[in-house]
Amino acid sequence: MNTPIWDFVRKYADSDATRLHMPGHKGKGVLLDFEKYDITEIYGADSLFDATGVIKESEKNLSTLFDTGASFYSCEGSSLCVRAMLYLARLNTGESRGYILASRNAHRSLISASALLDFDIEWLYQPSEDSYLKCEITPEALQKKLGECAKKPFCVYVTSPDYLGNIADIKGLARVCEENGTLLVVDNAHGAYLRFLESDMHPITLGAHMCCDSAHKTLPALTGGAYLHISKKAPTELASCAKDALALFATTSPSYLILSSLDKVNEYLDTSYKERLASFIARLSALKARLATYGYEIMDTEPLKIVIRATSYGYTGEELGAEIEKHGLVWEMRDKDFLVLMLTPENDENDLNKIERAFSKIERRAKITHPVLDFAPPKRAMSIREAVMSRKETLPIKEARGRACARICTFCPPAVSLVVAGEIINDSIIDALEFYGFDTIEVCK
Ligand SMILES: Cc1ncc(COP(=O)(O)O)c(C=O)c1O
Repeated sequence: MNTPIWDFVRKYADSDATRLHMPGHKGKGVLLDFEKYDITEIYGADSLFDATGVIKESEKNLSTLFDTGASFYSCEGSSLCVRAMLYLARLNTGESRGYILASRNAHRSLISASALLDFDIEWLYQPSEDSYLKCEITPEALQKKLGECAKKPFCVYVTSPDYLGNIADIKGLARVCEENGTLLVVDNAHGAYLRFLESDMHPITLGAHMCCDSAHKTLPALTGGAYLHISKKAPTELASCAKDALALFATTSPSYLILSSLDKVNEYLDTSYKERLASFIARLSALKARLATYGYEIMDTEPLKIVIRATSYGYTGEELGAEIEKHGLVWEMRDKDFLVLMLTPENDENDLNKIERAFSKIERRAKITHPVLDFAPPKRAMSIREAVMSRKETLPIKEARGRACARICTFCPPAVSLVVAGEIINDSIIDALEFYGFDTIEVCK
């Protein structure tokens, strides 16, 4: 697979052209030594949101790799793609406000999309005995919910995989969405690599209409590099309006360092990545099995994460994280219950051995049992947009009872928001926020 963006950037960087254009470092490498590759949309370099040249060619490569109707680059992560996807989904129905159904394990970019675009979110709660907010939305539950909706949502929005590596039944959810005449939009920020598993589990393959992938999370792209994918079966307007949708929220100065890395990732994916991934996952699975023999409870998650329920080994996630730091291991996420490690085939044998050595040295303690929080889903006082745009004050948690939350969201384990902007803070939320260590919260004035 060719690399048109990188070829242009490298050629330009190696030429003796005098740079009479932005950026201000002029490619001289005075500060960081790689400035020569950091160019802007000069003649020949194409234009990200009006692509006709090297970027268009590279995005075509991306679309071929993921077998999509169309695929687009973002230099501002999946966060940008999430806003664009919501804009496109609503555009497809022609509504002015409208609402969506969404699982609550959503990233804050969904809430900010709601504030910017002014649509409502009806949350799909699925209470269960081991978590105050279980986000596993089944096709049956979705079918029931859609059957009860007087007016159809302009899309169903699912986060899969989530921060804890849980994967939704995208195939089943897509079928239900099709039967009910709505779109399935997936936040696949953690799952770009799913396309290259022996059995392809990428959301587009499984039937989603749109999804975003953070190429920088699980592929070797530079931080910020992400994809917006639109499936072949999606209404044609989604692909034809996608660039405008991205441009609506994005900077006009995209990073060519990131674009070059996204371009090179295509070549990387096209060159025996699938085999390397399969071999790495086999070694990682074997490591997980060995960690289980030491007594660790390893959660059944997407293959590139190691998610450990730290409490059953006698530690909070924070404590277990601190233990492995002593061995030079840097975790991705930890909370009161879990420790999350993210790996890719770029982690070598040495890394895997280091992980095993570290965990084998940690002494097992008596299991920690947290009380299961009795969570009452909050009622809404005003729209997310109204709350985000309102004046705010910060109150001690206990004094916030009955007030409307002004924070975009309050991420609590397992990366699920207890309360989001515009919702009324009730007693169970106060208890839960205190349990998770919040002292204060911003409320609407
Ligand atoms: C589930 C989920 N969605 C979206 C995002 C945003 O991705 P990005 O950092 O690429 O903007 C994140 C970031 O951590 C995430 O965890």
